[in-house]
Amino acid sequence: MVRKKIPLYDLMLTPKAIRETARTLKSGWLTTGSKVAAFEKAVAKYAGVRYAAAVNSGSMGLFMALKLLGVAPGKEVITTPYSFVATTEIILHSGARPVFADINPRTLNIDPVEVQRKLSSQTACILPVDIAGYPADYKALGDICDRYKIPLISDACHSFGARYHNKSIPQVADAAVFSFHATKNLTCGEGGMVVSRHKEFVRAVKVMSLHGMTADAYQRKLKNRWEYDIVNLGMKANLSDVHASIGLGQLDAFDKNQKKRLAIADRYIKNLSPLAEFLELPPVEKSIQSAWHLFIIKLNLSRLKIDRDRFIEQMALRKVECGVHYKPIYDLSFYRKMGLTEQYFPNTAFAWRRVVTLPLFPDLKAVEVDYVCGVIREILKKYAK
Ligand SMILES: Cc1ncc(COP(=O)(O)O)c(C=O)c1O
Repeated sequence: MVRKKIPLYDLMLTPKAIRETARTLKSGWLTTGSKVAAFEKAVAKYAGVRYAAAVNSGSMGLFMALKLLGVAPGKEVITTPYSFVATTEIILHSGARPVFADINPRTLNIDPVEVQRKLSSQTACILPVDIAGYPADYKALGDICDRYKIPLISDACHSFGARYHNKSIPQVADAAVFSFHATKNLTCGEGGMVVSRHKEFVRAVKVMSLHGMTADAYQRKLKNRWEYDIVNLGMKANLSDVHASIGLGQLDAFDKNQKKRLAIADRYIKNLSPLAEFLELPPVEKSIQSAWHLFIIKLNLSRLKIDRDRFIEQMALRKVECGVHYKPIYDLSFYRKMGLTEQYFPNTAFAWRRVVTLPLFPDLKAVEVDYVCGVIREILKKYAK
């Protein structure tokens, strides 16, 4: 059965997430405590590294990671203009200057050749984003970072569960920051995590996320001691046990859900491959496993009488909700004052006008994927040039 309207995302909480959360709600302890500790341990284990600090969002995880690396006024962070605004916003909050490197139009991820061109003596960090869950070119980026002794921090907010040459993202970057926002493939409702093999770095994130405090309230309660010290300038960005309980319950079904995402992506690819002259499919490579957070196609506008937005309207008329990930940062009103225009980023400019995100969530049925593909076929046929 095809539902009346096919949404872009749909969230199904696992029975375990509901049970765990109800138990936490009744436990008398709602803020950071044993559930957060268990969630950190489980996520680090899943990613195959030892250390993880849970935070209240991917944005705050990224912000604290940069601050702790000494990113500050006078420094630069090289990142992509093709991302959600959070990636650039946190660089500006640190006082540093975001320096944009254009993307590879096939993967939509930052192009290492462009990164190399944008390096300067002020470069404090390189911050790639794994768009749609497809890992950036970590080999080339890692080589640049090693050569110039610059940290590589991954905005892995789309790529929990992705594999790059059989490694998780935290295994190929100095630190990876995940988002567990409600639309992500692993969710707590709101939340995030900084995951890394660097023990002291993760510990520093943890301390910073709760006012720079040596012992949080839960530890003090366990030890029956009121005493704490403030050892650093901190902030309030800790995750609560309520959110961690949702995450723990969702993690339980994560592999099963990822298999479903993969099967949906495979079905889209199989169904849409014959339309190659009208659209480009997401990249697929043997050694790279996307987390399939999003399924983004790129329209070949030179073969169509309509533009991307009209295509999305036509999809909506046929009860299929689509999205656009992303409008480039330099094109957002506030960010226009940075004085950047699309002429500096030809690949980003070319890609973003063509991208359409199709519905993808574990409970999307095979018949619904076929329906979406049928609708695409119909629209392309109607508006073919
Ligand atoms: C690429 C990217 N980076 C960062 C974030 C920020 O994550 P959060 O919403 O958990 O702060 C998002 C959220 O959608 C994102 O898509």
